[in-house]
Amino acid sequence: MDTMNLLETQKLTRHFGGITAVDDVNFSLKDGEIRALIGPNGAGKTTFVSLVTGRIEASSGRISFAHEDITHLPAHKRIARGMGYTFQITSIFPDLDCFENVHLAAQRNFEGPARKLYSFTRMILEQVGLNTYRTDIAGDLAYGHQRLLEIAMGLAQRPKLLILDEPTQGLAGGEIKDFMHLIREVSDRTTILLIEHNMDVVMSLAEKITVMDQGKIIAEGTPEEIQANEAVQTAYLGG
Ligand SMILES: Nc1ncnc2c1ncn2[C@@H]1O[C@H](COP(=O)(O)OP(=O)(O)O)[C@@H](O)[C@H]1O
Ligand SMILES: [Mg+2]
Repeated sequence: MDTMNLLETQKLTRHFGGITAVDDVNFSLKDGEIRALIGPNGAGKTTFVSLVTGRIEASSGRISFAHEDITHLPAHKRIARGMGYTFQITSIFPDLDCFENVHLAAQRNFEGPARKLYSFTRMILEQVGLNTYRTDIAGDLAYGHQRLLEIAMGLAQRPKLLILDEPTQGLAGGEIKDFMHLIREVSDRTTILLIEHNMDVVMSLAEKITVMDQGKIIAEGTPEEIQANEAVQTAYLGG
C-alpha cells in the first residue's frame, strides 16, 4: 500500500442479484486531495461509497483507510476512525432544530466537556452559514439549507475524509457558489470525495476526477485530461 493514500480499494466488488454494481474497482485517494467521482446514472457511484462507508458489505475485495484494513469494520467504527459522509437521501432529523441536528452529529465523535461541544457546534453552524437558522426546525428549512445542514452534520464528525453524494442536487446557483466556497475552505483540513453531476462544480473544485461506468473505473485524471478523454465523452459527457 502507498503510505500517502488515505483510502484504497482493491478489487472491490458488489453484486445485487444478477447486477454487478461495483466491479473489481481499484481506487486510491491521497491524503489532502479533492477528488470528484462522476459517471452516468446507475454507474455504481453510490454503491461504491456505500461500500467505503460500510452501509453495505462488499461481495469481494478489500478496503483500507488510514493504513488499516476496514473491509469488515461496521459503519460506526469507520466514523470513529475519521470517515464522514452525507448521502443522496436526506439524513437530517426533521423534527429537531438546526443546532440539535449538528450537536447530535458532533457528539458521535467528540471527547471533551459539554461546553466545548456546544461551541464546536456553533462554529460548524457558522462555517456553513446556518448560524442565524440555528433554532429553526430542520424540516421547515428551505431545501438548500437542509443540504447545507447535512454538510454541517458531516463536518461535525471532524472527518479525515468527507464523502459527499450529490451535495448540490436541487441547489440554486447562489447556493452552489456558497457550497464551492465551503468545500475549498474545509479542504485545508479534510480530504474530499465528491460525487457530483454539475460539471462546473466538478471542473472547478476537483484536483483529480475518477469516472465510473457500469461498475468500473473507465478513466482517471485531471479535469483537463478528463475533458479531453474520448471514452469519457462517449460514456458520459454525451459525445
Ligand atoms: N440496493 C440495491 N438493490 C438492487 N440493485 C441496486 C441497489 N443499489 C443499487 N443497485 C443497482 O446498482 C447499480 C448502480 O447503482 P448506483 O450505485 O446507485 O449508481 P449511481 O450512484 O452511479 O447512479 C444500478 O444498476 C442500480 O440499479
Ligand atoms: Mg447515486
